[in-house]
Amino acid sequence: MKAIVVTGTPGTGKTFVAEYIAKRLGFQRVDINRWKKELSIGFDRKRNTTILDIKKLNAKLIKEIRGSRRPLVIDSHVAHELPPRYTLLCIVTHCSLKELKRRLTQRKYSTAKIRENLDAEIFDVCRTEAVENGHSVIEIDTGKPGWQQKVLHVAKLHLNKESSSRGV
Ligand SMILES: Nc1ncnc2c1ncn2[C@@H]1O[C@H](COP(=O)(O)OP(=O)(O)OP(=O)(O)O)[C@@H](O)[C@H]1O
Ligand SMILES: [Mg+2]
Repeated sequence: MKAIVVTGTPGTGKTFVAEYIAKRLGFQRVDINRWKKELSIGFDRKRNTTILDIKKLNAKLIKEIRGSRRPLVIDSHVAHELPPRYTLLCIVTHCSLKELKRRLTQRKYSTAKIRENLDAEIFDVCRTEAVENGHSVIEIDTGKPGWQQKVLHVAKLHLNKESSSRGV
């Protein structure tokens, strides 16, 4: 079973969207936070964040995907590093810069960390990398109504396409 990966700048709503997909479409959500310790290859003091071993992360995700009877949904700002042959679709979450600043301020992020994430959103880092990695990408704005319908529609379309390619 393949996975939907949800990527995007921190705070743009990946987890919110992944939980919605799990609830509405019966996907199993993979919370990679529980692997943080074993996948850590260091700590970025400046950014106050764990640096993950992407190779190991992908190996673990591929094992989960192969072993699962249900399609998976994986939310992380590095989820687009998973090779596209294991994915149905890559969703990139966005929200307005004003909304992002509000959400990150609410999380009590430092001014530098907020600035860095706003810059990542402005430069569209996650979407650019996802496209470069060959993913089939859709973008949603979690701050505006209507993203739910788009996500459900596109996810169902890709699920059907995958089922027919497997002859199910
Ligand atoms: N569609 C939405 N409607 C209302 N609130 C939202 C929506 N999407 C996200 N939020 C809120 O914005 C905040 C950040 O969302 P979320 O935790 O899903 O972001 P994230 O991209 O998973 O962040 P991180 O990269 O840190 O895990 C949360 O408080 C969440 O409840
Ligand atoms: Mg999250």
